[in-house]
Amino acid sequence: MSKVTVVGAGNVGATAANVIAIREVADEVVMIDIKEGVSEGKAMDMMQTANLLDMNTCIKGVTNDYAATANSDVVVITSGIPRKPGMTREELIGVNAGIVKQVSESVLAHSPNAIIVCVSNPMDTMTYLIHKIAGIPRNRIIGMGGALDSSRFKYYLSKALNANPNEVEGFVIGGHGDTTMIPMKRFATLRGIPVTQWLDEATLDKVVADTMVGGATLTKLLGTSAWYAPGAATAEVVEAIIHDQKAIIPCSALLEGEYGEKDLCIGVPCVLGKGGIEKIIELPLNEEEKALFAKSAAAVHKTNAALPC
Ligand code: LAC
Repeated sequence: MSKVTVVGAGNVGATAANVIAIREVADEVVMIDIKEGVSEGKAMDMMQTANLLDMNTCIKGVTNDYAATANSDVVVITSGIPRKPGMTREELIGVNAGIVKQVSESVLAHSPNAIIVCVSNPMDTMTYLIHKIAGIPRNRIIGMGGALDSSRFKYYLSKALNANPNEVEGFVIGGHGDTTMIPMKRFATLRGIPVTQWLDEATLDKVVADTMVGGATLTKLLGTSAWYAPGAATAEVVEAIIHDQKAIIPCSALLEGEYGEKDLCIGVPCVLGKGGIEKIIELPLNEEEKALFAKSAAAVHKTNAALPC
């Protein structure tokens, strides 16, 4: 029996729970929220799709009842406020740090062995905060951002290439911020063939720029931050862990010397399996990429310094 808890039944949390359930990643999914009745209602709504979608996952919704989350294998934290148009993710730190601190303490009190997937923004800093609070091995705390940013990179690549998004490979490292993420254009391929075969430098640079503000573009259109891709990217990370896939997914990981950084959570390619982050892959970055990574790391360090604890 596998159990996943999603804390926060807002747009991103509920979408993640729904994708996890529909893909039958876990036997049981618990959604928990502070808003009375919201988790219960969304869980009931989702369960009423079970017969329509031939879904066998049991979804439960609770208000503030952490006992119901006990012994989860994976806990996803989406709690906090989303950004509004014109806001950066970093501006959410003041409100969200307090919420994430309280939530992670409650989660670990009931699921001391869980692997935690952090989605709350500013995501790298919230992942770092959980490390500070939890005092558990670094492999068990994973920030989701790189999975989402990589999916957006593949989307923009597929548009530029006029190709099927499923044929495109690419990934994003660095911070999950409009100016900190690093879409790795040198490694992007269409079925293993470098995209530079078809895309000139200016087009590729536009793909990179669009990817970096991918979240902000949606926030402007929607009036709040996006949820379908963030929810699905979260489910991808959870699936890799629960099904022990050994999948290579860029995630925010606590670095202890990798990429020349330490005491920092930032996006790097990780091997995800039942142990959480089972391995951090150290890529041979070129000089330009090294400089971008160092700049990104410095920006994330700066945001971390604004943590209230
Ligand atoms: C985004 C938010 C979830 O990138 O960070 O859409």
